[in-house]
Amino acid sequence: MASAKAKIYKEQTFGHLKGLDGISDAQIDEHLKLYAGYVKNVNTLNEELAEMRGRGKPSGTNPEFAELMRRLGFEYNGMILHEYYFENLRHAADPTPPAASGIAQALNGSWGSVDKWKEDFQAVGGMRGIGWVILFQDPATDRLTNHWVTLHQDGVPTGFKPLLVMDVWEHAFMRDYRATEKAKYIEAFFRNVDWQRVERRLREEAAVRPAAA
Ligand SMILES: [Fe+2]
Repeated sequence: MASAKAKIYKEQTFGHLKGLDGISDAQIDEHLKLYAGYVKNVNTLNEELAEMRGRGKPSGTNPEFAELMRRLGFEYNGMILHEYYFENLRHAADPTPPAASGIAQALNGSWGSVDKWKEDFQAVGGMRGIGWVILFQDPATDRLTNHWVTLHQDGVPTGFKPLLVMDVWEHAFMRDYRATEKAKYIEAFFRNVDWQRVERRLREEAAVRPAAA
């Protein structure tokens, strides 16, 4: 069959996530299983699309082709954002980035202070609905801005570099907290941020996540 070879993504392992403060190992284990589903779905979708293309010309009026294409953004970003999220957590983390770090200075430059940025980031996390809160850097201006991403794909500013990614889907915290306790989870998230990782993302030219390492 003359189908293009689809890129196979590999499920990443995040062995450093044991013993977080306020996010249990059981919560992380369950969340990693959900993440693995996204990797599998990306690979399956790509295989199905390659097979369809191998069978004939792609057609936008073919409902099967169109539905697979529409699902790509959801599954890809579900995989990608989880990789950023798990990678920017660690146990025994510092509560804030060191004052002299590049990320602290960049946050001061864009927000006036780290505290003002954090207050805003947490406020975004308090929004109703499921999705993500992401601190992005615009490579054209170097400005750091907070964004709300609905589901996994709606609201991502194209080409911006993710620096800090927080999952606020209920599956990210409901083993440890009640549905009404999202604020507690957000506080816990901030007790486990790997600021060195965030700093590295700021320094690197391109957005680099574990799959590309
Ligand atoms: Fe998640």
